Amino acid sequence: MALKTAITFAILLLFLGSSSAQLSPNFYSKSCPHLFTAVNSVVRSAIRNEARMGASLLRLFFHDCFVNGCDGSILLDDTSSFTGEKGALPNRNSARGFNVVDNIKSAVEKVCPGVVSCADVLAVAARDSVVILGGPNWNVKLGRRDARTASLTAANNSIPPPTSNLNSLISSFNSLGLSTKDLVALSGSHTIGQARCTNFRARVYNETNLDSSLAQTRRGNCPRASGSGDNNLAPLDLQTPTTFDNNYFKNLVNRRGLLHSDQQLFNGGSTDSIVRAYSNNLNTFKSDFANAMIKMGDIRPLTGSSGEVRKNCRRAN
Ligand code: HEM
Ligand SMILES: *[C@@H]1O[C@H](CO)[C@@H](O)[C@H](O)[C@H]1NC(C)=O
Ligand SMILES: *[C@@H]1O[C@H](CO)[C@@H](O)[C@H](O)[C@H]1NC(C)=O
Repeated sequence: MALKTAITFAILLLFLGSSSAQLSPNFYSKSCPHLFTAVNSVVRSAIRNEARMGASLLRLFFHDCFVNGCDGSILLDDTSSFTGEKGALPNRNSARGFNVVDNIKSAVEKVCPGVVSCADVLAVAARDSVVILGGPNWNVKLGRRDARTASLTAANNSIPPPTSNLNSLISSFNSLGLSTKDLVALSGSHTIGQARCTNFRARVYNETNLDSSLAQTRRGNCPRASGSGDNNLAPLDLQTPTTFDNNYFKNLVNRRGLLHSDQQLFNGGSTDSIVRAYSNNLNTFKSDFANAMIKMGDIRPLTGSSGEVRKNCRRAN
């Protein structure tokens, strides 16, 4: 009997200790029943104001989750005790939407003060953005808590750069529990949004696995010399950069990926077949994307009494 009790207890501890066991779509159903309407109305008006904002919010969630888990760390401003993630190489002059996140958080604080974490606000805002731009819906798992600190070094090192080759993309995602299929599905996010010249210059001037007329067009707004026009923008999906569809994959099949890392997914390697499948089947892409977003949202959350529920997403309480 004592043994049985001990075993039950051990199983319970294992369950409580496992990283995402406590995330659940119903986490706030009693404590913040109007959470989803509050987030959705702010996201909707932000996207009505600027369609690109949906892409920017989606990317913030990715950059949050890949750096020490989905813990809202990307939202923290620098303090005297730490330098945050906003100035890290992948984020500086690039990550955007922080004011919109502040507005969402304010709307949420109004309906249920001190209840919903910034990490969860980001997870819901990313889902809403995808839905509003025509992509799939999914039940967002909730119950994440917010980090009290952030790390510039971790952000520099954990977010894969656009110069990555296929093997490093695969191992970056695999190391966080995301499969090669998840990598390809999640990269389909590049069916929306913009990139800066500094991130595609080498590709449009020097790479041969790129459609030559697209290369020529993109050179037009991205001077060869580094340091000039670095922040000039081009759409990641040349056809429909504000619609969440599968044109990104159709582009890859036609050697029209804007980033080096994009075209790595269709360059004679192991992921070609997945890209081809998504380019031919919008519904398969949408359903794999939704599943992969849930998996990405499960990366090392703070739960239970770890971390805190920040009042202001920019600073620890
Ligand atoms: C596979 C590895 C990935 C690499 C190397 C990568 C790299 C990049 C780069 C370089 C940009 C342009 C940034 C700039 O020039 O300022 C970008 C934009 C973007 N990325 Fe990724 N990305 C990856 C995966 C993802 C994932 C997994 C998501 C979301 C789940 C995502 C969502 C986005 C979005 C939506 C944009 C456009 C943002 C905007 O317009 O504000 N990316 N990415
Ligand atoms: C991180 O990247 C930034 C921007 O390139 C750079 O200034 C900084 O030295 C890097 N810091 C660390 C600690 O890796
Ligand atoms: C293209 O490649 C050459 C040779 O490696 C290099 O010197 C040059 O800086 C590259 N140009 C761009 C725009 O990346």
